[in-house]
Amino acid sequence: MHPYLNIAIEAARKAGALLERYFQNLDRLQVEEKAHNDFVSEADRRAEQIIVDTLHKYYPEHSIIAEEGHGRRTRSEVEWIIDPLDGTTNFLHGFPHFAVSIACRIKGRLSHGVIYDPIRDELFAASRGEGARMNNVRIRVSEVRHLSHALLATGVPYREFDYVDGYMNSLRYFMMHTAGIRRPGSAALDLAYTACGRVEGYWELNLRPWDIAAGALIVREAGGIVTDFAGGDNYLKSGNILAANPHIIREIAKVIAKTIPESQRK
Ligand code: IPD
Ligand code: CA
Ligand code: CA
Repeated sequence: MHPYLNIAIEAARKAGALLERYFQNLDRLQVEEKAHNDFVSEADRRAEQIIVDTLHKYYPEHSIIAEEGHGRRTRSEVEWIIDPLDGTTNFLHGFPHFAVSIACRIKGRLSHGVIYDPIRDELFAASRGEGARMNNVRIRVSEVRHLSHALLATGVPYREFDYVDGYMNSLRYFMMHTAGIRRPGSAALDLAYTACGRVEGYWELNLRPWDIAAGALIVREAGGIVTDFAGGDNYLKSGNILAANPHIIREIAKVIAKTIPESQRK
């Protein structure tokens, strides 16, 4: 295993253990609203600090982008992208579905990724060109060949509502032409579940790089396809992502092109 992946796993497990302890004592947790419907707690902040400290101990020169601001940019060609707690709303409500997400980009290319769900003790990991694993067992996207048999994951807009109409059009179409839709509440796990075939595909818009960087690599290494809404690979910048097994990705992309206005598909 590449040393970077090893350290990322160590950091994700430590942060996950901390989140799990907080999750047992939610009534004592300090919570702040960063923006409308965007919460952060002491658990997010402390988990992020643990991840940053772990990475920094081994690689003090690396650049770190982290959601809650504990990272630091350097000139290094190695860059870590961290979401210490993806699924904060679930977490704060005692809904046991959230994860730690850590990605490593080298010279601008996603190279390693880890997503850890401490409640189920499921660790998803991948390195570029090496395939994807869950708890050390190789995973692959599903073999389902038709959209009509596909279970899709998604995320609904809840902070900014400019995208609601286009999003609702896509949701309406998928509601009527798939086997079902799930909105589990963690983009990182939506991608991890796409990678291991629990869902056939996933779409969401207006995300941030730390929500999807690790998951995008894990899906690709599991044989899936990940694109932005214009069919390119600009999803970390645009925040618009679709991921699916190779059989149904085109059908999903067509629906997105038909239902979401071009100005929102950049
Ligand atoms: C959120 C989750 C959610 C997605 C949101 C993200 P957070 O991340 O991934 O599933 O729908 O858009 O912001 O805020 O819990 O880290
Ligand atoms: Ca997130
Ligand atoms: Ca987060």
